[in-house]
Parts: sequence; structure tokens; C-alpha cells
Amino acid sequence: MRRLILINRKGGVGKTTSAVNISAALALLGKRVLLVDTDTQAHATLSLGVTSPEFTLLEVLLDGARGAPLQVRENLFLVPSSSRLSDFEVEAVKKPRKMIALRHFLDAVAEEFDFAVLDAPPSLGVIVLSGLLAAEEAIVPMPPHFLALKGLAETKALIDKVSRKNPALRLAWILPTFFNPQLRHTREVMQEIEKVFGRERILPPIKNSVRLTEAPALSQTIFEYAPRSPLAEAYMRVANIILEGGAS
Ligand SMILES: Nc1ncnc2c1ncn2[C@@H]1O[C@H](COP(=O)(O)OP(=O)(O)OP(=O)(O)O)[C@@H](O)[C@H]1O
Ligand SMILES: [Mg+2]
Repeated sequence: MRRLILINRKGGVGKTTSAVNISAALALLGKRVLLVDTDTQAHATLSLGVTSPEFTLLEVLLDGARGAPLQVRENLFLVPSSSRLSDFEVEAVKKPRKMIALRHFLDAVAEEFDFAVLDAPPSLGVIVLSGLLAAEEAIVPMPPHFLALKGLAETKALIDKVSRKNPALRLAWILPTFFNPQLRHTREVMQEIEKVFGRERILPPIKNSVRLTEAPALSQTIFEYAPRSPLAEAYMRVANIILEGGAS
């Protein structure tokens, strides 16, 4: 099972939107995908139409519960979140070994899935650390703005730090989001990122589009809301590249 985490310490950059749609794309490609919502905001959970789930990530992390993940689409399963997940932050401060619980859970289900996709919150707390200790390939979604470069550098520093404890962890991909190719500023920032990370680690960009806001309001993925749109095509290309990237 490959273990992806969508992470950026900056908020509102498209982590959740990308976690949901990359997971949906991989599921459509026939892979068994476990999406893990690690955000107390529970946006990935809500985006897929799941409200008031009984079994959530909190039970996994606190009690080591092995309740079955919820099947939300063909090939797509979810460990939902809820605002109660914030209880974990308090508990993990008291018992730091709880920080490895998510990793143990993924180890336990590794035979059942081809991919685990973790949606990280924007904060830098124990939940993000739990995710980074459990993951292998970090995907950093970011709008190509100069200020977002700072978020990228900080996120990279965090990944480098945690990778001393979890050597399998690496910054595998950068995913440009809210992309507007017409702007000179966009091209300049993309050149900057290419210089630092190399072109081969940059995924196809996701354009700025209100459709990505409309879809979750109807509990739909982009493949359900606008299956023939360039956006659906872009997320499918992203998923295909991630899929190929694992073979090498
Ligand atoms: N490419 C895009 N174009 C336009 N709007 C987008 C795009 N991607 C995401 N959005 C919208 O922007 C908002 C923030 O996106 P999203 O929730 O995915 O970001 P996030 O990084 O997960 O945020 P948070 O840090 O709060 O978890 C949402 O309303 C979403 O629908
Ligand atoms: Mg989010």
C-alpha cells in the first residue's frame, strides 16, 4: 500500500479538494483507496456526503479501534473525521506514544488497499505529526503565488525534520492549484519552483475554477459533478502520474 499525504502548513490551498479528487481518480482507475480525514474541520468527510459518522479517526487513534472504514464509492473507502478529533490533541500531549497510532492503523490495513491518502489540516500540531509519521509520499498543493513559496519552504523543512524519525517520508510532488496560466506572476513562480525541486516533481496544474467549490456542496467529486470538464481531466492526469511514479 502506498501512503500519500496532502500537506501544506498554509490554509486554503486545495489540500482537501485534491485529497478527495485524487482519491476518487485512483478509485476510478481501479485501485482500492483509503482516504483518511485527519482534519478536525472534517471537510473531506463532508465533501463526500458523510455526516455524523459513528466510527471516526478519533476511535482509531485513541482506542486502536479497527472498525471498518466506510465505503463511500466503488473502490473508495473513508476513515471519517469530526470535530471530536480535537480530543486527540489533548491526549497525545499526555501520551506522546499515541502519535504512532495512525501508522499502526495503516500497517494493519495495508493488505486491503493499494493507496492510503491522508488529508492533513493546515496547523502544525500533533495530528499533522501523526500523519507525517504514517506517510511516505508528501504531496504539497500550492497556488503559484510568491507568498505561497514561504509555505512551501516551511512545509519542506517540516517534512525534512520528521523524515529523521520516518526515513520513508519524502516530499514527492508539488501540485500547483488555483492555477491561472495567463498571469506572468504564475509563470515566474513556477520557474522558481522548478529551479528548486525539478520539473519532474511538479504535477499537472489544477486551474482556478468555482466548480471545485460547487461539487462538494452537492457531496460530489469532480468526476460526478463535471465528469467531462478539463478539471476532471486534470485530476485524472495527476492520478495517472502518481500511479506511474510509484513503479520507478
Ligand atoms: N483549483 C481551485 N480553484 C478554485 N477553488 C478551489 C480550487 N481548489 C480548491 N478550491 C476551493 O478553495 C477552498 C479551499 O480549498 P480546500 O478546502 O481544498 O483547501 P485546504 O488546503 O484543504 O484548506 P484547509 O487548510 O482549511 O484544510 C474551498 O472552498 C475549495 O472548494
Ligand atoms: Mg483541508
